[in-house]
Formats: sequence, C-alpha cells, structure tokens
Amino acid sequence: MSAEHTSDVLIIGSGAAGLSLALRLAPSARVHLVSKSLLRESASLYAQGGMSAVLHKDDSVASHVEDTLRTGAGLCDPEIVRYTVERGREAVEWLIARGVPFTKEHQPDGGNDYHLTQEGGHSHRRVIHAADATGRAIETTLEAQVRSHPNIGLFENHIAIDLITAAKLGQKPQRCVGVYALSREAGRVVAFRARCVVLATGGAGKVYLYTSNPDVATGDGVAMAWRAGCRVANMEFIQFHPTCLYHPKAKSFLVTEAVRGEGGRLLLPDGTPFMHKFDPRGELAPRDIVARAIDHEMKRLGLSYVHLDISHKPAQFIREHFPTIHARCLEFGYDMTREPLPVVPAAHYICGGVMTDRHGRSDIPGLYAIGEVAHTGLHGANRMASNSLLECLVFAAAAGQDILTHLAEAPLPAAPPAWDESRVTDSDEEVVVSHNWDELRRFMWDYVGIVRTNKRLQRAQHRVNLLLGEIAEYYSNFRVGNDLIELRNLALVADLIIRSALARKESRGLHYNKDYPDTNPAAVNTVLTPPNYNV
Ligand code: FAD
Ligand code: SIN
Repeated sequence: MSAEHTSDVLIIGSGAAGLSLALRLAPSARVHLVSKSLLRESASLYAQGGMSAVLHKDDSVASHVEDTLRTGAGLCDPEIVRYTVERGREAVEWLIARGVPFTKEHQPDGGNDYHLTQEGGHSHRRVIHAADATGRAIETTLEAQVRSHPNIGLFENHIAIDLITAAKLGQKPQRCVGVYALSREAGRVVAFRARCVVLATGGAGKVYLYTSNPDVATGDGVAMAWRAGCRVANMEFIQFHPTCLYHPKAKSFLVTEAVRGEGGRLLLPDGTPFMHKFDPRGELAPRDIVARAIDHEMKRLGLSYVHLDISHKPAQFIREHFPTIHARCLEFGYDMTREPLPVVPAAHYICGGVMTDRHGRSDIPGLYAIGEVAHTGLHGANRMASNSLLECLVFAAAAGQDILTHLAEAPLPAAPPAWDESRVTDSDEEVVVSHNWDELRRFMWDYVGIVRTNKRLQRAQHRVNLLLGEIAEYYSNFRVGNDLIELRNLALVADLIIRSALARKESRGLHYNKDYPDTNPAAVNTVLTPPNYNV
C-alpha cells in the first residue's frame, strides 16, 4: 500500500522550533507539519520570561557565553555555546521581522527601544520579551504565517507513534524515511514519508506528577528516536522551576523568574527571607540552587509552599510587566500587587535529549532533532533561564540550512508498508493505562525529584521495569490510542532518566544525589546507547 502523505521535509511538532523551521524551509521545499494537538499547543505557547540574546551595548557575547558555561556546571560544549550565543541577535531580528511584538520601553532621549529583563544566572539584562507572555507572542505570530503558507501542509491532531527507518524495513543504508502517526480524529494510523524528518517534539515534563509543562510534553521524540537507534545524553538533568503557583486548581501555573529579576523576594510564610543563606546571588542564583533551597526549607519546616513577594513594587509597574500572571493569580484569589504568592517548584525542562551535532543532525541519516527534544551541548548540567527559546530558533535555522543544502541528494523513499493491525484487538482494560500513568508520575516525583539518593533511584528503577513489561504486553495486544502511545513513551523516558541518574556518581548542576554530594573533578556526559545503534 502506498504512503498516504509525501513531502520533502516532515516536521513533527509545532512549537517555536518546529514552526520557525517550517517557515525557514517553506520557500524552497514542500513541508508537512504534524502536531498531536492544535498547532499552537506547546511549551512554547506558555513561555513567559523571554528569550536571551546579546542586545544591549554594555553586554557581550563573551559574557553570555561565560554565564551559560557557569550555569551549566562544567558540562556545556563551549563551541556549541559560542555558536548559539553568536546567533542570538540574528534569531531575535528574524522574529522581529516576522512581526513578533516584543515589549519596548521609553528611553531618556525620548526614543523607544526593546525592554530587556534579567533572570537567574545572567550577569546582564539580556532577556527580550513580550510582557510576561513571550511564548504566546512568538507562537501565535509564527502560527498565522505557517497556516497561510502554500508550501506547508498541516496535520493537527496527529500523534506520531514511531519513526520508519530503512533498517526497520530490512533495507540498507540506514536512513529515516518517515513516521507512522495516529489521526486522533479519524482513529486510524497513517504513514508519512519524506526525504528528511525532523523531531521538534519538545520536552517530557509529564513524566513528573507536578510540572509547568502542558499535557503534550510526554517525551515522544526522545522515545521514538531511542527506539529507532539514536543515542541520548544527559537525561538525568531535569530542571525544576522554583516558582509555580501553589493552588489546587492552578495546574502548576508558572510565575516567571522575571518576577525575581524585577525585585521579587522569596520568603518563608512568616515573612523571613532565606535565599541569602544558600547563595550570595540570592533570588537570582541559578534555578537548581533556588529550587533546592525551597525544597530544603519546605522539608525542614514541613511547609506546603513558600512565598514570592513583589508587592513592595508599585502596583502599576507589576500590572504593566506581569499582566498575564497578575490576571491569572487574581482568578485564584491572589492579588500580587498587595500580597505574596504561594509558590512551589515543579518539573520544567529536560536538559538532555537526542544527541545532535551543530546542524541538528541525529545519529540516523535523514533524521534531525531541534529544540527541547535535542541534546546539543548548550545547557550542560543546568539550562540558564531563557536560553531555550534561543536554542529553538538558532538550531531551527541551522537544521534548515543543512537540510536545504543536502535536499537534492536526499532520496525520496519508497512507500512504506501500511500499519499492521492484524494481531491486535480493542482494549477491554483501559484502567491499566490510567493506573500506570498515575503510578509512573508519582514515583518519578517521589524518587527521582529535586534531591535523589541511590536507594530512591533503585526503587524507581524496579518500578519502571515492571511498568515497561506491562506496557509492552498491552501495546502488543491492543489497538493504539493516544494515552497508550504517550504512556509507552513516558515509561521509556522515565527509564532513560533513571538509568542516567544512577550512572552519575556525583552531584552536578541539576542532578543532586545525597549519596554523592561532591562534584567530580572531570565533567563527563552521560551517553546512553540503544541496542540497535549503528545497525
Ligand atoms: P514545544 O514548544 O514543547 O513544542 C512541541 C510540539 O511537539 C508541540 O506542538 C507538541 O504538540 C508536538 N508533539 C509532541 N509529541 C508529538 C508527537 N508524538 N506527535 C506529534 N506532535 C508531537 N524557555 C525560554 O527560553 N524562555 C522562557 O521564558 C520560558 N518559559 C517557559 C514557561 C513555561 C510554562 C514552560 C513550560 C517552558 C518555558 N520555557 C522557556 C521553556 C521553553 O518554552 C521550551 O523549552 C521551548 O518552548 C520548547 O520548544 P520546542 O519547540 O522544542 O517544543
Ligand atoms: C520563566 O519565565 O521563569 C521561565 C524562563 C525559562 O524557563 O527559561
């Protein structure tokens, strides 16, 4: 049977990375864009603080590089850091040319320039933003242009299940030739084939019970790449954002670090400040330090939350700088212009991912990975705030250039076989999926969280092995549905995180293990290699 959809380039994921790549490619190539929900639903949509770049006259590439390296705790790839930072201005200018409405401020000379905010780890104001809804401004601007581009075919509500490779089809040489995806509306699996395939599937926050991430962040890209034979790196480095709103209905709504950048203080509920006890940079220490300090104080005092207070600033300033957060907090009964907000840490970002080079190429020819799904070497053991949108934009441009350079010589693959459903039936036990989903996310939170121990990690490993077995059996017997696809990926990603955490016999950056509190003299990446690597 022939493939149902054919293009030059197939992009899976429609966040900042996927949308910007689609627009870079579309003038010269036929692009298909597959997204598992509506186009804009992504972590990118919810990004608040902004995007880092060297834009101020007093700032420098050297300083941004140095801050990124310091925050990354010895594990960043210095060449990739420089490569990325040097392209920050171009990425911002590209977004401005596309019409992204970044916030401006009046200058003393009467002119208008872009307002830059500051966040943890940055030694300069270098975060360009659109008030406190930067991601929405970027995502919706790019979305409108992608929707109207005649060379981009859109497949919303299609969830990619697995990559199709030459090796899986028993062919040589190895190459990625497409993907099977479930149309969530039609309930059937369709094949996409393309000369090049790009994973832009974002992160995996849903592995944890509490996360700032949207529901789509289930680590699908890492899981698909691993099953196809790609190496992954540094999966143990999970960033916990220190300040998500504590409210039963808030679903871990983020309160941007820029609140601390503009003077917000972290306080115990009795009003006592505590960050100075943990780091001389106080509230603007990198996130790992702030999240661990909050976790420490919460555990020490048996607290459910700590306070974030910016009410000492003028109310108009707060409403102007943080209109979204102000309005959302009011819905939950908190007026941040008058009172502190209750906050807790939540899983926010995964620094590791599919190993790529500086062009976004993975281990499999024809397969690229860009954005949060990728491990480029930029973030090391801890991502500095607002370096993620930067990475999305810079590596979308890099991959786009590489794809266009090599497109003419990339073969159009033969039609892959249709998805085989001959040996499966409809599930009669959906409860297995929902039970395992809850169990996984809870033990990851309890055992593989902000502070780890060998014993907790071993417990988690034992449980994930049981779940992997159960899920594999279920998957081979029953028809695929959205929740099963995501659960299968979450369990695999959890396994990769636990294995990486167990392999690291030290504490570094975001990975803190009480049994190895010290940092080793040599910084080494954790690289996991799948059994079918290099077939
Ligand atoms: P995403 O934007 O997450 O997009 C992934 C896309 O892939 C989605 O469209 C999703 O539906 C799709 N997808 C996933 N799996 C599949 C599948 N199997 N099949 C089809 N489609 C699939 N970073 C900053 O630099 N600055 C900030 O201010 C900032 N604030 C943040 C605030 C919040 C609340 C969060 C959650 C993150 C924030 N981050 C910030 C991090 C940053 O937003 C993300 O790392 C970045 O947006 C990731 O972009 P992406 O394009 O790689 O993935
Ligand atoms: C935030 O606005 O605090 C999030 C910034 C980021 O994750 O980079």
